[in-house]
Amino acid sequence: MSRLALSILVFSSISTALAQADPSVSTALADKRFKYPDGIPYQVDTDIGDRGPQQGYNKCNSTTEGPTSMCQTAMVNSIDDFCLWAPAKPNSIIADTEGEEVAWCTKPGRGTRIIPPNALTGVQFMRTPDYLQVVGYIDQTLINLEKDDSGGELDPHGADLRGNPLGGIVFSNGFPSNGGNNNTYQQVIEWHNFMGGGAFCIKACDPAGADAANFCQHVYDRIGCEYNAPNNAQDNVFESCQGDDQDFPGIYTQGGQVMTYKQPPESLGDIESMPYQPRVPASSNCQTYSSNDLYTAAATGTASGSGATPAPGGDGGNNPKSGAAVTRTGAGSSPSHTSNAAHRYIPRGASIASVVGAMALLV
Ligand SMILES: *[C@@H]1O[C@H](CO)[C@@H](O)[C@H](O)[C@H]1NC(C)=O
Ligand SMILES: *[C@@H]1O[C@H](CO)[C@@H](O)[C@H](O)[C@H]1NC(C)=O
Repeated sequence: MSRLALSILVFSSISTALAQADPSVSTALADKRFKYPDGIPYQVDTDIGDRGPQQGYNKCNSTTEGPTSMCQTAMVNSIDDFCLWAPAKPNSIIADTEGEEVAWCTKPGRGTRIIPPNALTGVQFMRTPDYLQVVGYIDQTLINLEKDDSGGELDPHGADLRGNPLGGIVFSNGFPSNGGNNNTYQQVIEWHNFMGGGAFCIKACDPAGADAANFCQHVYDRIGCEYNAPNNAQDNVFESCQGDDQDFPGIYTQGGQVMTYKQPPESLGDIESMPYQPRVPASSNCQTYSSNDLYTAAATGTASGSGATPAPGGDGGNNPKSGAAVTRTGAGSSPSHTSNAAHRYIPRGASIASVVGAMALLV
């Protein structure tokens, strides 16, 4: 039995046990509210529960910043300013560490670990009426994931309602409801982050939106970024766009009927096929950047903080990788859906069946 399969089994049994509500957990993580930065306690989760204490902390500052940070307060602001959840120790897999992930961010100044600039090889940032979404390709070994880990989902729920990671919280200054005020950070109540297979997606839903919990749905943990965060991100391309809202994950229209996909339990084996292809929403006003502009300066602390310089249509020659793979094929998607609807999100080197089947993990 592969290690991944084993951990899924282990997890399933834990998950079943926890489903009988953990009496020692006083307040669900998704019900906790904090003001950034002064209202954040050392740890937002003081329960012990069946999964033990929160592994890191939420009060993060210049002292905690760097390669040993255990900061569990993340940000999703813009293409050059976002964080992902990943393990604290090298060569880990998400299935074993989901309760313990720490924040890895593109920018210093948040008391977190910093994603090494060369780790991100393609990123698409999308601002829509209801959420911010970042999807991309990453050398996941540089953020402590085992090379072959196909990963899983992190979100503020989980069977015991303590979140994965326990006590992990997210803030943003980038929502439509922020009205362009970059100095105000709102707590992101509903978010989800899929990590693994050399790729990632993180979606932060605007708390002012009526459907935040639907757009950031957390029950489709086995079907990955393609179904939870439909996108046309491409490796070697760094772009920031505006987009329309997606359909709620798991909701699709077939023959004029609105259908709800029901994810089968892991006990029934791998998910070999899906009854639908998610609609990739239309996008516009994409600005293309070079990786250097976005991440290298930021990580070394020389960024102005106001964002990167757009390099429309190219990379300005700064990055040998950038711009190398801009072809958008029409494969797999109806052109009537969107202006650039084509690309289905399949992590490199993985077949759709294996991605779907391997995206194990929790609600
Ligand atoms: C920095 O954060 C750590 C960890 O939360 C905390 O123990 C420490 O008191 C903080 N330092 C300051 C100056 O706030
Ligand atoms: C806010 O941040 C965005 C993204 O970095 C940037 O494009 C914009 O210019 C900023 N707005 C202000 C008022 O600083």
